[in-house]
Amino acid sequence: MQPSKIDFIKCVIALAVVCVVGCTPTNKNENTWSSYKADSHSSSYSSLNQINLSNVSQLENAWTFQMHDSPPGQDPVSSQSNPIIVDGVMYVNSGKQTVYAIDATTGKEIWSCKTLDEGQPSAASRGVTYWESGDDKRILYSSGNYLMAIDAKTGKIIPSFGTDGKINLNEGVRNDPQKISVSLSTPGRIFKDLIIIGLRTPDFYGAPPGYIRAYNCKTGKLEWTFHTIPHPGEPGYETWPPDAYQYAGGVNCWAGLSIDIDRGLVFLALGSPSYDYYGTDRKGENLFGNCVLALDAATGHYKWHFQTVHHDLWDYDLPAPPNLVTIKKNGKDVDAVAQVTKHGFVFVLDRETGKPLYPVEERKVPSSNMPGEEAWPTQPFPLIPKAFVKQSMTEDDLNHYSDSSHNAILGQFRSLRYEGLFTPPDLKGTLSLPATRGGANWGGAAYDPNTSVLYIRGNNLPEIVTMVDLDRHFAARDNSIFETGRVTYLKHCSACHGAEKKGIPPTFPSLLDIKNKMSEKEALEKTRMGGGSMPAFKGVITAEEEQAIIAFLYDKKGQATQVAQEKPDEQKSIRYGNITGYRTWSDPDGRPAMKGPWNTLSALNLSTGEYEWQIPVGNDEKLQEEGGPITGLLARSGPIVTAGGLVFISGAADKKLWAFDKSTGKMVWETSLPAANNANVCSFSLVGKQYVALGVGGTKENPSGSVMAFALPN
Ligand code: HEC
Repeated sequence: MQPSKIDFIKCVIALAVVCVVGCTPTNKNENTWSSYKADSHSSSYSSLNQINLSNVSQLENAWTFQMHDSPPGQDPVSSQSNPIIVDGVMYVNSGKQTVYAIDATTGKEIWSCKTLDEGQPSAASRGVTYWESGDDKRILYSSGNYLMAIDAKTGKIIPSFGTDGKINLNEGVRNDPQKISVSLSTPGRIFKDLIIIGLRTPDFYGAPPGYIRAYNCKTGKLEWTFHTIPHPGEPGYETWPPDAYQYAGGVNCWAGLSIDIDRGLVFLALGSPSYDYYGTDRKGENLFGNCVLALDAATGHYKWHFQTVHHDLWDYDLPAPPNLVTIKKNGKDVDAVAQVTKHGFVFVLDRETGKPLYPVEERKVPSSNMPGEEAWPTQPFPLIPKAFVKQSMTEDDLNHYSDSSHNAILGQFRSLRYEGLFTPPDLKGTLSLPATRGGANWGGAAYDPNTSVLYIRGNNLPEIVTMVDLDRHFAARDNSIFETGRVTYLKHCSACHGAEKKGIPPTFPSLLDIKNKMSEKEALEKTRMGGGSMPAFKGVITAEEEQAIIAFLYDKKGQATQVAQEKPDEQKSIRYGNITGYRTWSDPDGRPAMKGPWNTLSALNLSTGEYEWQIPVGNDEKLQEEGGPITGLLARSGPIVTAGGLVFISGAADKKLWAFDKSTGKMVWETSLPAANNANVCSFSLVGKQYVALGVGGTKENPSGSVMAFALPN
């Protein structure tokens, strides 16, 4: 329901255009950060060393660019964007999905391009993609359900790309494009004149499949499609029920991809099949779910795959682009692919064949008690390297904030089914550790090519999985629209926004005051499109249910009966849902139930398979024990590593940016940011000066957020 309205896209060139394109000679590969996570290998590595161990303590704010697309009074946005720099210009998107071009030496605006209509919901967006051919220089960016091409020099939409400058990503994904909402949270990558992209799809029953697609950067023409849920005759088809390719969904690459340009191979990190927690309609191993997948970048033809979780029942999506690395094996250099996972492993695979370079064992794992469920009997466990986060817990790991808090979580722990990693979901409730936030998350890992060390951030936060028969568990009290809305809300929304609509701010917003925050139309759009960690519900719930949810959220009790309540139907397959998922298991006062550290940074030597160090990252001062170590704090962004001997990583709620000594993990610099940061850092050099920059979330005064650049004093 998104008419292509180019006229809503208002692109403005700022008047104050200073020295811009082409005035600073740069070597695109060495000292700039010209694509997401530095380069097509997703290395998050910078070869710059002007800022180094000896002088990092002098680092200071060189410039701050204030974004300006959220009017004062609005809720502060968070930024997940990793800025890129080409020919002296920084390209970065805001939380409201406006693309900005900034002079990267001064922080002055060159142009801005608003990509969303007024009232259209924004969604997490981690950056933009740059492509050029001769004089034709473009920014390819995804916003809403569209991929669009913006002129890198002027900030204007290029109408000859796709239809009026845009491609509707809903088209060509099997399902009726009017009835689905797919988008792109991580920028695509360039191979010659192609942009290769994954998709963000819902996690629930009825989700569309996450096909991989390549479009021509010039025309927007679709060049190839790879079916991540294979069709008859395609590799992997036999790992699903025969008709699954017509109805199964998910298996999408939301976290990003990497390209080996010389070999012409693209490597994708794939997510789990939908629905996350119950798989009776998708019996089998479910290729290419949870796979590292290698395709011919020019044609999309299958090369190899490695599945990290068979028949996923835990939402263990591969959460970050694979790192293309080179390790020493028996004295020889071997090109490899290193994949960090939500469940805490690093799989190191031969880049040509996909075969593990360290032993991986298929181990027997617990079977499921859910009606009809056939959990896969074994799962792959790498013997080397060891996991970078905690993968099991006992009663000794429970926090003791007070006797009553401890008793509450202990009682809960004892009531659960828990047999360690891969305990399948259960009606009784199970514990999932690591859980949906990882282990690793979208920030991914940074790779130092000089030492073969991989730097990985990991979360240690269990979640509880409680399965219920959704139709029977939530019964309507009468036949009103409001009641239908209440029940639909409880089934689909309460896991995150809470049964009382209170949410868990700031992770999941409260919907109690929604009337004063947004119009019904905007709330409906948000429900249909999703955004951040909220899935899209378009096509997942019916149009009647959408209207009913709005009646419920906006307290419209007096409405006449219109919607016939769906009676539980014995013939219909039962839809089980996890009603406690996607949030940290906490005590009654909202404090994490498991002891910290809740977040760590690890340095893993990929050539030896051994860890060099691991440290906690971030701190919750309120929960830190007196004289005790810092607690670590949930974060999803990732590190970068530089030739200057430094690892830069930002905090999250604690509003920090740190530099660590890459060989010891010792903190060597920190600064406080004006707001929570939730994005990866970049580093680049211009006119003889090295910068470290990152997107920072909005504040009360400036809800739009900013970009901050740091450098050594003149
Ligand atoms: C997996 C967790 C999750 C589920 C399930 C979920 N949401 Fe959300 N919701 C979020 C998050 C996270 C945000 C903030 C998103 C952002 O910043 O873009 C959000 C934002 C919203 C907003 C905007 C609120 C604001 O203050 O900006 C509305 C309205 C909303 N959700 C409605 C719903 C409805 C209705 C459902 C069920 C049909 C639902 N959500 C299900 C996580 C969830």
